[in-house]
Amino acid sequence: MAAQLAERVIGQPESLDAIIPYIQMYQAGLSPEGRPMGVFLLLGPTGTGKTRTVEALAEVLHGNAKNVLRIDCGEYQMEHEVAKLIGAPPGYLGHRETQPLLTQVKLNAVMSEQNNLSIVLFDEIEKAAGSLQRLLLGVLDKASLRLGDNSMVNFERSLIFLTSNLGAREMARELRPEFGLETATVRSIDEGRSAAKRLEVVAVAAVKRKFAPEFVNRIDLMLTYQSLDAAALEQILELQVRGLQEHLDRRLGERSFQVDVPKKSRQFLLRRGTSVEYGARELKRTMHRFVMQPLAALVAEGRVAPNSVVRFELNASGERLDVLPGRLAA
Ligand SMILES: Nc1ncnc2c1ncn2[C@@H]1O[C@H](COP(=O)(O)OP(=O)(O)OP(=O)(O)O)[C@@H](O)[C@H]1O
Ligand SMILES: [Mg+2]
Repeated sequence: MAAQLAERVIGQPESLDAIIPYIQMYQAGLSPEGRPMGVFLLLGPTGTGKTRTVEALAEVLHGNAKNVLRIDCGEYQMEHEVAKLIGAPPGYLGHRETQPLLTQVKLNAVMSEQNNLSIVLFDEIEKAAGSLQRLLLGVLDKASLRLGDNSMVNFERSLIFLTSNLGAREMARELRPEFGLETATVRSIDEGRSAAKRLEVVAVAAVKRKFAPEFVNRIDLMLTYQSLDAAALEQILELQVRGLQEHLDRRLGERSFQVDVPKKSRQFLLRRGTSVEYGARELKRTMHRFVMQPLAALVAEGRVAPNSVVRFELNASGERLDVLPGRLAA
């Protein structure tokens, strides 16, 4: 499992190493009772693999990245919207209309034949109204949630992930101290420490400012994702190129062909698709624009021979890639 995760999530080994024991405890039947299997708060700069980690776990445990019960906390910023999660009590306005999102049925629906554990993701938790955090206290503490209709939902077989961009702005400043003010306090405390450690200090301080101590105390692990270095970004691009090839083979079958993206073209894609501020977040869009779309046009025009090699060369302008349909694969 560790290897399968590390193939999918690049450059965050400490985070993966910390999560895995919780799953092993569960597989060994030794998870504590009356608590979720694990509660993880994932912090760190944008585009560094927080959400990807949760999807990758679902792929490894369930065979499908979609086996996640995902709550977009940005949709629950107002107190009254939180009722959408648990449903209104009988007799109250909206009782019939509100289909609660956090029911036992929905929780069970993200299990699979392979595995009866549910992955739950509360994305961007800091955006949620205070009442959602209070509601979560019971879930994190006792693994149970009472719905509007008085039924109970059991979270004992759940891995709960919370993600947050708290501290992201200060972190960006840490990553690029030449912009904006120096975060003098953090710097002076941590002068000797590594950049990774500084990010963690910033993130955890932001969490403690925002959330009540009883909420913070119920989190098993706070994991700060690191900004990705050039080698990690290169590896992520390689994953995406390989993903494209698999997609072509699956979709086109006998008519499939090989995609060749040489080094210079990769450097171009990395320049356009990655940055200190956004990590690898834009890489997919960049791949889509400069590789996938031109490729699709070529295929649609019937200009790619089955079993040939299609090469993406950096254009002389340095501003785009030329698609060269060509020779047959060896
Ligand atoms: N560490 C990583 N390993 C593999 N792919 C990654 C990694 N980080 C980012 N990516 C790629 O970038 C995309 C965006 O990353 P992801 O959604 O995990 O960012 P995030 O950390 O959740 O950021 P945000 O805070 O903005 O939600 C992913 O779908 C994936 O393609
Ligand atoms: Mg995310």
